[in-house]
Amino acid sequence: MRRFFSILLCISMIICMAGCTGTRATEPANNNVYVIGFSQVGSESDWRVANTKSMTAAFADDPDYELVMENARQEQENQFTAIRRFILEGVDFIIIAPTVEEGWETILAEIKEANIPVIIMDRSVAVEDESLFLTNIGSDFLHQGNLAVKWLEGEIPADKQAKILHLQGTIGATAQIMRTKALEDAVTQHSNWEITGQLYGDFTEAKAYEVMTEYLKTNKDIDVLYSENDNMTFGAMRALNEAGISYGNGGQVKIITFDATKEALQYCHDGKINLCVECNPLFGPRVKELIEKYRNGEEIPKHVYVDESAYTTQNITQDFVDSRAY
Ligand code: AHR
Repeated sequence: MRRFFSILLCISMIICMAGCTGTRATEPANNNVYVIGFSQVGSESDWRVANTKSMTAAFADDPDYELVMENARQEQENQFTAIRRFILEGVDFIIIAPTVEEGWETILAEIKEANIPVIIMDRSVAVEDESLFLTNIGSDFLHQGNLAVKWLEGEIPADKQAKILHLQGTIGATAQIMRTKALEDAVTQHSNWEITGQLYGDFTEAKAYEVMTEYLKTNKDIDVLYSENDNMTFGAMRALNEAGISYGNGGQVKIITFDATKEALQYCHDGKINLCVECNPLFGPRVKELIEKYRNGEEIPKHVYVDESAYTTQNITQDFVDSRAY
């Protein structure tokens, strides 16, 4: 029997070693270390990679903190598993970058029950009871969409038709919901604008390339590409190249993209992308500041938005592109 239990223990240790994919920014120095469990969406985009780097770097060299990150590979279920493990391990704090908005009540109630404070970062959660989290720090995604719409209004004369192809990110994520809302609302207000296709790109370059390639086999009449992130835009550009369709300044298709990563800004500077709407991933230092405020008993606003702008060939320089941190 004892032999049976030792084998069982070994098996569970092996399973745990294989399943516990969290990465630790630092090794715990002593028992006074403040342990933060961080449930990250995935690594679907350059934006996400920059966000992960910013989060880990903010805590990496601070002996007072240990950040344990779990990559959910864009599955909400994986986030639930990771968060339940954080609760079992008795972490001091939890940060969640939610994949989608819906479905968070139960798990947030479990965290509250365990008396662990939570910050929601990047996207939002749709819960009625806002006492389930300390604060939500992220982008104003509707504002981002409205920046794009405003720019397009200046580009399309009222007497000209605009056929808009819409590449959507992960359905149900705040970034998708709000960027889509801005466009769809604008289309109802402009009788000359028409969304001729809505393609699902899941915020990844590979998926966008695949759906665009398929779409372009039968539809080539596109005036505007409204792409909900940079990586999908890169995939779409590859598909447009292969289909022989021109884009950018002076091209057939005007390209609007979200994130404004260094690579996208370079394309914008070079005239291949018309508009880059900024989405700032560098939350690490801001999140750390909020946690320190919380630990000092200071007031924290319920929602914290970061300032973001939009860029065209006309308002960026090569120096600006070179200085981009992500
Ligand atoms: O939630 C932020 C969005 O998620 C970014 O626009 C996108 O690139 C990322 O995957």
